[in-house]
Amino acid sequence: MGRHCLERLPGRSGAGLCRHSRGDHPRVLLRRPDGDPPDEVSARCRVRHLFPGAGTTGGVLARWLTGAGALAPAGQTDVAGRQPEGGHAVTAAGTTRLPPQPLQAEDVARRHAPVLLGRCLDLLEPALATADANGEAGRGAPLMVDCTLGMGGHTQAALDRFQGLRVIGIDRDPQALRLAQARLARYGGRFLAVHGTYDQVAEIVREHAPLLAGAADGTVDAVLMDLGVSSLQLDEAARGFAYSRPVPLDMRMDQTTGPTARDLLATEDAASLTWILRVYGEERFASQIARAVVRRREAGNPVTTSQDLADLVRQVVPAASRRSGGHPAKRTFQALRVAVNSELEILETAVPRVLNCLRVGGRVVVESYQSLEDRIVKRALVSGATTRAPHGLPAVPDSDRPYLELLTHGAVRAGPDEVALNPRAASVRLRAAARTRSVQEAPAPEPRGGPYARRTDTSNRRGKAGKR
Ligand SMILES: C[S@@+](CC[C@H](N)C(=O)[O-])C[C@H]1O[C@@H](n2cnc3c(N)ncnc32)[C@H](O)[C@@H]1O
Repeated sequence: MGRHCLERLPGRSGAGLCRHSRGDHPRVLLRRPDGDPPDEVSARCRVRHLFPGAGTTGGVLARWLTGAGALAPAGQTDVAGRQPEGGHAVTAAGTTRLPPQPLQAEDVARRHAPVLLGRCLDLLEPALATADANGEAGRGAPLMVDCTLGMGGHTQAALDRFQGLRVIGIDRDPQALRLAQARLARYGGRFLAVHGTYDQVAEIVREHAPLLAGAADGTVDAVLMDLGVSSLQLDEAARGFAYSRPVPLDMRMDQTTGPTARDLLATEDAASLTWILRVYGEERFASQIARAVVRRREAGNPVTTSQDLADLVRQVVPAASRRSGGHPAKRTFQALRVAVNSELEILETAVPRVLNCLRVGGRVVVESYQSLEDRIVKRALVSGATTRAPHGLPAVPDSDRPYLELLTHGAVRAGPDEVALNPRAASVRLRAAARTRSVQEAPAPEPRGGPYARRTDTSNRRGKAGKR
């Protein structure tokens, strides 16, 4: 769309969009369905939110310029801030606090498009269909745990597809839980939302499965993990995940607890920050960036906003390296996010616990969006699918048989059509497995201090976590 076209927009809308523009993507304020202050998001995101399938910001604004107009759904506002009947004005220039709105299930659905949805459900089907047909003597209703409920997209599709299915949805983000709960309210007692981290899966299943699905043995039929952050978290400027915004660097998925990214930058020494950037972000210029952060802190001008950090990284990373691999601060932001939320440590602990919650024949599907996550998942699944018997034995003793069967060959990727519609799908790697032996016979081992655990002693933080 560009500044030139934006400037042609009449009155305050044009000025506001122009002022808020970043390259081709103007920033506008997005009304939050829970009534909190509106958030600044890219107009492209806003357009997709209001007009799924509308294509680009340019398309909608072009209709506006030519007088065709872009009609917002009832009760919502169009991109240019006009107020359709029954709606509330959200202007690009204004910052007015909006009155609370009743939550619309469709609003929630638009905030995040589930990735590889059909493939996930197809992979889980044999476990849920068996349970559905009461193939397992003494089991209650089929039960799935969605370890990363998010906006509830995967869960909603599973509830629609599998008759009688019950779902326990876990998320550490209270805002996501609230929104998903509202979206899934119509499924009544078939769905339960639980606030927590997914490494608590065993306790959560023990506590809630008996009442929800009549399953009292601590196992479930299926587990889904769709790792990382949701589009909701990324899009909301105030959460501090996005680059170059004049907002505090928070990055906590659960904003009720724990230190923020700003706290880490204010307290960790250069060695520790280097370790974080190198191991969690695979950043080549980790030590240069870490030293620059500490220098600024010592000069009394600490890095506190996402804009500060993006600017600092841009200054530190040599120009030649800035030309490839996307935004130069991408790896730094990823590393801080992983550290703030202890993402890899929790995942390493969680995967064997998830595997130990599956009944025989139960299935797990995991979607990862970065190589470090995928490495953890792959290692656990491949290890469970590999016999422990020494090579060359004429027959594998029962006790050494693998306890998993891999359901995917390597990692499944999204096709170009899905990526075109949902860019988040570009980096997905999906892996799935089924339990072939009971947890009593063959428990998945708990990890012992994996390579991603942060230590207070920084002496061994210099190396890269080993590939396994
Ligand atoms: C990619 S989104 C899931 C989207 C969801 N599948 C959907 O269709 O709407 C990932 C979600 O997992 C949550 N999450 C990330 N790490 C978590 C953890 N360790 N424990 C619980 N939830 C976590 C995030 O808060 C986020 O809401």
